[in-house]
Amino acid sequence: MTGPGLRRADPDLAVLGIETSCDETAAAVVVGGTTIASSVVSSQVDLHAHYGGVVPELAGRAHIERFTPVVADALLAAGRTGGSPPVGAVAATCGPGLVGSLLVGLSGAKALSMSWDVPFVAVNHLEGHLFASLLEAPDLGWPLVVLLVSGGHTLLVSMEGLGRYRLLGQTIDDAAGEAYDKVARYLGLGYPGGPAIDAVAGQGDPTAFAFPRAMMAEGLDFSFSGLKTSVVRTVERHPEAATVDVAASFQQAVVDVLVAKATRAAAAVGARGLCLAGGVAANTLLRRTMTEACDRLGLPAYLPSRVMCTDNAAMVAAAGWWRLTHDGPSPLSVGADPNLSLAFFD
Ligand code: KG4
Ligand code: ZN
Repeated sequence: MTGPGLRRADPDLAVLGIETSCDETAAAVVVGGTTIASSVVSSQVDLHAHYGGVVPELAGRAHIERFTPVVADALLAAGRTGGSPPVGAVAATCGPGLVGSLLVGLSGAKALSMSWDVPFVAVNHLEGHLFASLLEAPDLGWPLVVLLVSGGHTLLVSMEGLGRYRLLGQTIDDAAGEAYDKVARYLGLGYPGGPAIDAVAGQGDPTAFAFPRAMMAEGLDFSFSGLKTSVVRTVERHPEAATVDVAASFQQAVVDVLVAKATRAAAAVGARGLCLAGGVAANTLLRRTMTEACDRLGLPAYLPSRVMCTDNAAMVAAAGWWRLTHDGPSPLSVGADPNLSLAFFD
């Protein structure tokens, strides 16, 4: 069975997507659900780096300052400044995320939809990440297993059609990105931790320390908090250990578990392909190991480009385009929901 793909409906509908759930202020214009006319991301990394993590109050304020210029840049880059209205709909992330940050993008999007008199559509950030892969490979077949690994989530999802998600596994404690961030912080590698560990791990020995692969034989759930504790204990016991070796060994343990469970999940549901999504999907070792494992299994691996893995607004516009054509506009009364989860069936 081949999926309906994203190309079919409303090929000319241009959606302005807005993403402000965490520390990226982003706006993008996507036409017909798959053609990215522009994608602008203003990262707040420099603002938060000094504190070793995202400071919610600062993030919200920075979103307010950057919202208008980022939206203007996205419209300009898409060549959509003259039209009235410049786009056919406005989509914004309504959750999950930091409530103060979400409110900035959501309120701004509603204001734009009212002033342009175009539909508004609220988007689940996690669904946005799932659509990021479809943006670059719109004719995937179902079911598709997606490993969504971000700063706040680690989910194994069987996508059985657009908007049809079955939960196969999730973390019972820390998210994979959270583990990267905490371990990088402990090792003094800075923030954000994922890219920092990614950058140094290649110089280290991934077999130097045998960190635990938690729940490896048990189902499709994950656990990463014990791994973080094990890194701390190991460094306490071996203060002479090279940081690059600890980072490489930690990363190998994370990737081994992610790839083993994702490929097992794909086999269990008879997946037509395996997809990565979320910020950790930008990780070099994860991308390489997943590709090699899928090659061995004869399973297509779909890796979004790195900019589509981390937070961006093109994925929000794409998911918004589909939600709009499938469910219609959202009411302007929809609020920010910091704990919003994906809607699963079964
Ligand atoms: O999806 P995302 O941009 O934001 C959330 O929705 O959370 O993911 C951010 C997470 C952070 O934990 C960051 O450290 C991690 O993704 N990350 C990476 C890499 N790039 C970002 N983790 C490992 N390797 C990377 N190259
Ligand atoms: Zn995200």
